[in-house]
Amino acid sequence: MQTSSSDNTAIHVADEAATVVVSGIQPSGILHIGNYFGALRQHIKLHTQHEAYYFIVNYHALTSLKDAEAMKQYTLDVALDYLALGFDPEKATLFVQSDVPQVTELAWIFYNLTPVSQLEKGVSYKDKIAQGLSPNAGLLNYPVLQAADILIYGGSLVPVGADQKQHIEITRDLAQRFNQTFCPKDAPVFPVPEPYILDEVSVVPGVDGRKMSKSYGNTIGIFDEGKPLKKKVMRIVTDSTPVEDPKDPEKDNVFALIKLFADEASKERIEQAYREGGYGYGHAKKELLGFINEYFAEARERRHDLSNRMDYVMDVLQEGGKRAREKAESYMERVRECTGLITTKR
Ligand code: TRP
Repeated sequence: MQTSSSDNTAIHVADEAATVVVSGIQPSGILHIGNYFGALRQHIKLHTQHEAYYFIVNYHALTSLKDAEAMKQYTLDVALDYLALGFDPEKATLFVQSDVPQVTELAWIFYNLTPVSQLEKGVSYKDKIAQGLSPNAGLLNYPVLQAADILIYGGSLVPVGADQKQHIEITRDLAQRFNQTFCPKDAPVFPVPEPYILDEVSVVPGVDGRKMSKSYGNTIGIFDEGKPLKKKVMRIVTDSTPVEDPKDPEKDNVFALIKLFADEASKERIEQAYREGGYGYGHAKKELLGFINEYFAEARERRHDLSNRMDYVMDVLQEGGKRAREKAESYMERVRECTGLITTKR
């Protein structure tokens, strides 16, 4: 899966045993099933297979979120979501980004290796400008902090959505530039990480048929249940083919969602029912509701349970932060030494 760059200053990271998985998660409120099938599911799967660091990127969130209460709530929500969905804190490290303030130290060092012109080409930065907004310096420098996030744990594999490709490119550039600028040729500090692009299974449609996205307001939450969940499922847009008529499952939003949740046998049965006719969208929605409820039943129960044990959740984050700081600090010692930033602290 990984390749080593032909560039001879790049470190060879093809050694599976040396793979370090890192990824940052935005604390941006309630997660939805598009997030689940797009990223979370793969994060959960990967974290037991390699050394892995997952962090809740509250420093990054500051570029747009300026509400302390919301920031705290969203941060803890992510932790609850990951733990409820099966993240095992014995197997990998989950923590809050700002518990490792060294990332901001490394980011500062990286700023001095980053051409402003490269940051001005950043997609989210350009987006803001295109919308007529005036971006703050945090947003301009967002990719540099992300590079620090990745490299400070020696990250070599970064599972992210396709929209993050550019950021990983900037990270790779910085790893190489740092190694070339400051390190002896035979002793580079940073591996050059590879993106692991999470293929969007098939795009998960929202209730209005567009891609499920918080910004479209068409989401179904992973932890929605009861009436609100039912309401959302019943609202999913379909065409108006009458119950009796045959329907094309491949053209239907409800079936697209059923495919994500149902086992093979149910999928086949429902597909056939669509094609034969006599099976209406109302039936399909009821079945979908059942599948969603079943699929997330255990995670929901665990989330309820965990939300009554916030001291445990805090312990997990605290322990994760401690492990992460140790790893980060060992990289930073080398970074400070290579850059000539002497310290008289110890
Ligand atoms: N920019 C990422 C996103 O919006 C979040 C992120 C921050 C991240 N730091 C990271 C992802 C480090 C991977 C690795 O999704």
